[in-house]
Amino acid sequence: LGQLLFADPNQPPVVFHWFPFIGSTVSYGMEPYEFFNKCQKQYGDVFTFVLLGRRMTVTLGPKGNEFVFNGKHADLCAEEAYTHLTTPVFGEGVVYDCPNHMLMEQKKFMKFGLTTETFKQYVPLIKDEILSFFANSPYFKGDAGRVPLSTAVPQLVLFTASRSLQGKQVRQALTTTHAALFHDLDMGFTPVNFMFPWLPLPHNAKRDKAQRAMAKLYMDIIAKRKAGEEKEQEIDMIWNLMNRNYKDGRPLSDRDIAHCMIALLMAGQHTSMATTTWTLLHLAAKPEIQQALYDEQVRVFGKDLAPLSYEKLSELSLVNNTIKEILRIHPPLHSLIRKVKSPLHVPNTDYVIPSSHFVMAAPGVSAMDEQYFKNAKDFDPFRWIGHEKDEDNAEKFDFGFGLVSKGTASPYLPFGAGRHRCIGEQFANVQLGTIISTFIREFEFSLPPGQKEVPPVDYNSMVALATAPAMVHWKRRQHSSH
Ligand code: HEM
Repeated sequence: LGQLLFADPNQPPVVFHWFPFIGSTVSYGMEPYEFFNKCQKQYGDVFTFVLLGRRMTVTLGPKGNEFVFNGKHADLCAEEAYTHLTTPVFGEGVVYDCPNHMLMEQKKFMKFGLTTETFKQYVPLIKDEILSFFANSPYFKGDAGRVPLSTAVPQLVLFTASRSLQGKQVRQALTTTHAALFHDLDMGFTPVNFMFPWLPLPHNAKRDKAQRAMAKLYMDIIAKRKAGEEKEQEIDMIWNLMNRNYKDGRPLSDRDIAHCMIALLMAGQHTSMATTTWTLLHLAAKPEIQQALYDEQVRVFGKDLAPLSYEKLSELSLVNNTIKEILRIHPPLHSLIRKVKSPLHVPNTDYVIPSSHFVMAAPGVSAMDEQYFKNAKDFDPFRWIGHEKDEDNAEKFDFGFGLVSKGTASPYLPFGAGRHRCIGEQFANVQLGTIISTFIREFEFSLPPGQKEVPPVDYNSMVALATAPAMVHWKRRQHSSH
């Protein structure tokens, strides 16, 4: 009753809760979308809930997405929302542990490895990594078998991303001594760390040790290069960062470079790993779409299946529509957060959000709303046909392969929008497109006998993962050729 009586009509409604500090932490933490949908029905698109003492104001729908993503930096600040989680993992001095204008510059620097020219080089490298993974992994021995995607896919994604975006030397290091370190660092990337940054959790000590060791891996490569000990000069992301200066003329320190490299690795790892796993699971549940994908490979590459190339990837419209559809149903990041810096009016409402609050966008809610997507719960890549190159209307779906979405008031924003928008969308398309194509060329796969549906979502990690082990049964295709 108190919550109703003392509610401030100029502030968004507060979601009812019994305990002051805990608030809605449990229901949000366990099933964020169920929580958002329930609150949307009860309170509308704008409401506030309590997450471990913090006041989070959620703004849903295309306009709500725009409100958060398009906010001015003076009003909404990402670094204050994310730094507790990311700085111990990436390291100091970069991304959310520096002023925002430096992050904007770092994102520009990273684009060196995210161009059409580099993508052309990556596709064969990624394909070779996948084939050597199939050849060496214990899960792909023989003509048929089963694979726990929760174990296999993280390795596959790490190897393919590191071989391409991170460069040959980093890839080599990650196979040998550093794979375990990467794992320890990865363990530090959990919601627990986000919510309780001050807790002395046992895995935090491991995380910090792993962070220092991973940073050293990069710094050793830099030191060798500076000492002229390299036989051949590698033109890779490390080389690129070593040759960059911030606008004020300062070069990146070795530590900054190492930490940017870790950030780049981590940003793509969880998101692409979750997306790859969901794609393979949904395809396993729908053999007719696997067949359509195989037919597309034959149509584009000929019956002998010529090697994959970047140019040809863009012709695989069903592969690209499959990725889009997976990112609609399973956007890896369900909550994007900013700290409010000054009282902020929410357009078209009477609400003013106080500066003590955080705001939260959840574009996954509008992406599953019947208002925008008919039969929203169905995995249907064909729904995107005809929307590939829809560029002239920001509210439509302008997500053709390689196109960059310009609209922020869209119901479909798996890569965010505005100043913090993802720089990895095209790389993710290249990586995922190559992985899906290679799987389809090599295998037919299905869910385990008796299992009708893909596994439920596990919200315990930073991204919306499929519940482990996410088992898939596979059979090698006859006459497969690469
Ligand atoms: C930002 C999603 C892959 C690097 C973001 C944001 C989203 C996102 C939603 C916005 C965060 C916010 O507004 O708070 C995804 C998805 C991916 C993916 C769904 C794959 C399926 C990648 C990859 C890379 C990457 C492969 C690296 C090459 C980044 C960076 C930012 C970002 C650097 C900017 C953060 C900022 O400016 O605050 N991503 N991402 N992402 N992503 Fe991705």
